[in-house]
Amino acid sequence: MNTSTLSGHPFVHYSGAKLHVEGVALETVARTHGTPLFVYSKAAMLSALAAYQRGFAGRHAQICYAMKANSTLGVLQVFAQAGCGFDIVSGGELARVIAAGGDAGKVIFSGVGKTRAEMHQALEAGIACFNVESEAELAVLNDVAVERGCKAPISIRVNPNVDPKTHPYISTGLKGNKFGVAHERTLATYQRAAQMPGLRIVGIDCHIGSQITDSAPYLDAMDRMLDLVTAIEAAGIHLEHIDLGGGLGIDYNGDTPPPADALWAQLLAKLDARGFGQRKLMIEPGRSLVGNAGVCVTEVLYLKPGEQKNFCIVDAAMNDLPRPAMYQAFHRIVPLNAHPNRSAMLCDVVGPVCESGDWIGRDREITAQAGEYLAVLSAGAYCVSMSSNYNSRPRAAELLVDGDAVHVLRPRESVTSLFAGEQLR
Ligand code: LLP
Repeated sequence: MNTSTLSGHPFVHYSGAKLHVEGVALETVARTHGTPLFVYSKAAMLSALAAYQRGFAGRHAQICYAMKANSTLGVLQVFAQAGCGFDIVSGGELARVIAAGGDAGKVIFSGVGKTRAEMHQALEAGIACFNVESEAELAVLNDVAVERGCKAPISIRVNPNVDPKTHPYISTGLKGNKFGVAHERTLATYQRAAQMPGLRIVGIDCHIGSQITDSAPYLDAMDRMLDLVTAIEAAGIHLEHIDLGGGLGIDYNGDTPPPADALWAQLLAKLDARGFGQRKLMIEPGRSLVGNAGVCVTEVLYLKPGEQKNFCIVDAAMNDLPRPAMYQAFHRIVPLNAHPNRSAMLCDVVGPVCESGDWIGRDREITAQAGEYLAVLSAGAYCVSMSSNYNSRPRAAELLVDGDAVHVLRPRESVTSLFAGEQLR
């Protein structure tokens, strides 16, 4: 049988004409579990993680999976069992870490709007570090910790003013973004934090954006961070760790981000050259650990040829796959059954939601007929975690493939569960 993998997706391949994730034929699971259906490869997640682990071999480093990318418990469990910590942005995410068997002691808490209740919850759980994003937040966290009679471990998230050259909605380290403390204010903010009785300074943090496909912005950010570390330590404040955030991109459409181990070889060379090679490192990767480990299988409902445009209407929609509608993002769309001899129709692949913004792919060559299946690739990150019930559409089911084994991580939502908590007058 001929086997061909898809570029950027080492664990998704055609075996003969049929698309597989690891040892599992997608058409078989689509018939059993229905569509839309998310299918993840455990081996793909672990192989993405291994690239970081290779990069950090022999160093003191903690990988904290940024779970906003995909917070399904069974996905968190894979990373928890592999020794990862987690980067969280809400009390809800912390509850998920604990429910998945993750270690709260390896959790770091990012985000510009942490509430007092969330601070209490995280201190109670004993998280590793709060990445504090403003001077106002610093004062409130101090207050909460004093009230509890403890010291909150903190890093200040620095806004290094580096352009990650990515979509404006997902660049976070520029002066005009809401994130972090301005580079110029950082030293003064650390000095203020050092005076607060409820805080224990443990590190420094930055995150410059997402879907970054070049190492240059990381190298710039690292230089700026090390300048700050030098200045902060000269003021007598020791920093145990340096957190460089997440953001490494994946191959959606021929994109060529540096492999994680190659990127870190460059960054570690810089750290070594500047005398920081032994410092503990933290990172917060999300997309690069799960993005290309997942596909979304969808059934073609109707082909609708038109005068100006042809449409291929599928049963997945913007509520399942919000990235095209939100960021004009590109996801490859391939058939579950390859038909090399069929002629293709050039069309927009769209969902059933009542919005013109509900598209999944534009101007694609589609060979599938109604009743056949397509796979939307690179659907492991920021799809289910950003999904909604818009148009009263139940959320899709999620499966984890491990070799030939299939595990249901989340059954399809039932319609009645959507309004189970609502009340009539
Ligand atoms: N750390 C912090 C503080 C973050 O804000 C983020 C992502 C990450 C880590 C993980 O970044 P990653 O390694 O996944 O690039 N919904 C958008 C992406 C939003 C990213 C927000 N922050 C999308 O679908 O492209």
